[in-house]
Formats: sequence, C-alpha cells, structure tokens
Amino acid sequence: MKIPVLLAVLAVFGLLRFRRASLLMWAGAWWVGIYVLLRFGFTAPIPSSVVSLYMGIVSIATLAYVSSSQERREEVSRPLVRFMTEKRYTALLIAAIIAIPALAAANVYVQMNVPLQPPLFSRTVHPASPSEITVHDKKIDLDNGENPFRHLETSNPSEFRTHVENGRRVYYRNCVFCHGDNMSANGMFVHGLDPLPTNFHDTIAQLR
Ligand code: HEC
Repeated sequence: MKIPVLLAVLAVFGLLRFRRASLLMWAGAWWVGIYVLLRFGFTAPIPSSVVSLYMGIVSIATLAYVSSSQERREEVSRPLVRFMTEKRYTALLIAAIIAIPALAAANVYVQMNVPLQPPLFSRTVHPASPSEITVHDKKIDLDNGENPFRHLETSNPSEFRTHVENGRRVYYRNCVFCHGDNMSANGMFVHGLDPLPTNFHDTIAQLR
C-alpha cells in the first residue's frame, strides 16, 4: 500500500465532509477515490482488467446506494435536474453533451490505434565475447593471447598430458551432456535445446 496516495484520498474525503458535500458529490468522490486507490495505491500494479471489474462493482454499489431510498434518489437527481433545466447552465450542458460522446470516441480511437509491429526478438545467438577478460585479477587478451599450456606439448609432453587429462575431466563433468561425447554437439540433452549446443569440430576455430 502506498501511504501518500491513501492519505491524499482521505484528505479529499475530509475536505468534502468539512464542506458538507452533497450526496452526488460523495458518490463521485467514492468512485474516483476507489479508482485512484486501485490504480495508484498499491506498489504492485493491479491489472487494468481487474481494475475495470472492481470499478464495475463499485458503480453498481454506488447506484444501489444512491437509489436505495426516496430521499437519496431526490438528493442525487436534484442537482442533475437543475443542471439540465436551468438557463444559466445551458452552455455547460451543451459542452457536456458534446464532450461525453467525443471523449468516448477519443478513447476508442486511442485504444484501437496501436501500431502493428512484430514482437521483439532480441536474442543474439552468438553474442561476441569480450576481447579481454579478467580471471583471478589477471587480464587475459582473448584475441592475441597464447594458450599458456600449448608450449608444453613439445617441451614437456608428460606434463602436457596431465593438463589434457584435467581438461577431459572438466569436460566430462560439465559439458558432455550437451556438447557430446566427441564434442560434436550430440549430447543426451541436445533434443531439449534450442539453439543447439555449438559443435566444436566446425566452430571452435572461429571462436575466440
Ligand atoms: C546445458 C547444456 C550445455 C552445457 C552443460 C554446456 N554447454 Fe556450451 N553451449 C550450449 C549451447 C546450447 C550453446 C550454443 C549457444 C548459442 O548458440 O547461443 C553452447 C555454446 C558453447 C560455446 C560456443 C560459444 C560461442 O561463442 O559460440 C562454447 C565455447 C561452449 N558452449 C563451451 C562449453 C563448455 C566448456 C562447457 C562445460 C564447462 C559447456 N559449454 C557446457 C549448451 C551447453
């Protein structure tokens, strides 16, 4: 609940009470007040279809209340009848008669005038990786970086095998399910994935 909105509505109600507002004013104030609370009074917004439903119920309840006795019916209709019959309100009456259908038409126009656009598809299948990453506070240049283990292949083949074995363990623990036994994108989860995992045979040379 947003307390400032609630306080603002209560303040208006207090003012109406102080000014001894007519029943018609009260009916309008309740309607608008509940609308403002539903629309702006909650931190999590209420769907507009639900607001419409509630406002329908509020309209019926207000009508039921103001028509529930002879006095109330007269109290509500008196200012309306005066507005419609007294000469000094003629200009306002004409304005209202034009404005009500004009507002309804404008509302329909705004509702229908939605630009037709295909839904946004913002996913990039292969987002380019950055040209530089930081691992354990060490900057690694992905474009020109050298694989620090590659030189071991000739200088120290047995240590090189250890690193390859390490990589194999990491791959079989974490990657094989999708990227497949032979890195050919045929792991057992592949059928549930879209896009398919990258086939390293075709693409690894093109990747950073
Ligand atoms: C849950 C399934 C899954 C697992 C597990 C997985 N991957 Fe992938 N991987 C994918 C998919 C799907 C793509 C393709 C993504 C795309 O095309 O946008 C991909 C793409 C890649 C790419 C290519 C990225 C690019 O720029 O195109 C690399 C490299 C990669 N994976 C490495 C790995 C490694 C290393 C592991 C294990 C540590 C791993 N993946 C585990 C599903 C997986």
